[in-house]
Amino acid sequence: MPKHIAVITSGGDVPGLNACIRAIVHAAQHEGVAVSGVRHGYDGLMRGEIMPLNTDSVHDIMQRGGTILHSARSKRFETAEGREAAAKALKKTTIDSLIVIGGDGSLTGAGLFAAEHALSIIGIPKTIDNDVTGTDTCIGYDTAVNTAMQALDRIRDTADSHERMFVIEVMGRDSGYIAYAAGLAGAADGILIPETTTDWNSLTSVLKERHAGRRGSLLIVVAEGDESGGAQKLGDRLCREFPDEKIGVCVLGHTQRGGAPTAADRILASRFGVAAVDALIAGKTNLMAGVDGGKLVFTPLSEIRRRHLELTAERQRLLTVLL
Ligand code: F6P
Repeated sequence: MPKHIAVITSGGDVPGLNACIRAIVHAAQHEGVAVSGVRHGYDGLMRGEIMPLNTDSVHDIMQRGGTILHSARSKRFETAEGREAAAKALKKTTIDSLIVIGGDGSLTGAGLFAAEHALSIIGIPKTIDNDVTGTDTCIGYDTAVNTAMQALDRIRDTADSHERMFVIEVMGRDSGYIAYAAGLAGAADGILIPETTTDWNSLTSVLKERHAGRRGSLLIVVAEGDESGGAQKLGDRLCREFPDEKIGVCVLGHTQRGGAPTAADRILASRFGVAAVDALIAGKTNLMAGVDGGKLVFTPLSEIRRRHLELTAERQRLLTVLL
């Protein structure tokens, strides 16, 4: 039975981190376990930046984006020396268990840390890119997709009025999850993702056909990691194909990382938070919580990898019919 759990938010922030911290605090307090927060991710852990948490300190954070603990991408924690420093800092406290809310890199680090220093650690997946194995969905993804979709809807209004073409860049360094989902939900005319190589001739011939038929606006969604090089380069290339058109370019960037989490993200974050505390109380360690077809599952941290959007037959069919 853990006596003192600490929670860390690591890597890029996402909407829903605060909802998860809140759930962890509630669950721990409900079971009579002390709970603290580590500030500034793994860097803060190495420096011993620990703050006590209780249900009062998290009572109004469910709806807030960002993380009250702050976050960091720690290069030092990727090394054995950094993890040793973090273990030493932990020994000076009464903390006996950790919950790490992070993406694939932070969770892999958590797995190594647990194995090297015989620690009780449970991981929780968060990233707007949704590119972590072991779960259908990560905290933050749903909100980011909704934010991108709403941006597409707004751009659609002005693009329709002026019958213009727009290229909209969404986040996704190596992953097309946001582009695919926001593009479908926003009725895009083209979706370009890193997982596929775009057939330029077929894309431009579709756009030319629609443009000639004056089908109002044309919206093309591109993931930042797509081989086209992102919205600006794609826009420049399209300008050469459509020399008489004024083509709009919009990079949504970090707008997708902020804002109030959707209900789906708040609920997912709450489920993961409570499940992580329950797992520690049940003596489990070195696992990541996830959902598989709606059910809670746990996967060893050592098996967690970065994943890419799989263009299944159904996903491909939707693109063929709806774009
Ligand atoms: O965390 C994922 C992500 O938002 C990617 O989509 C994006 O490429 C990257 O983080 C941006 O990172 P930073 O905020 O450090 O520039």
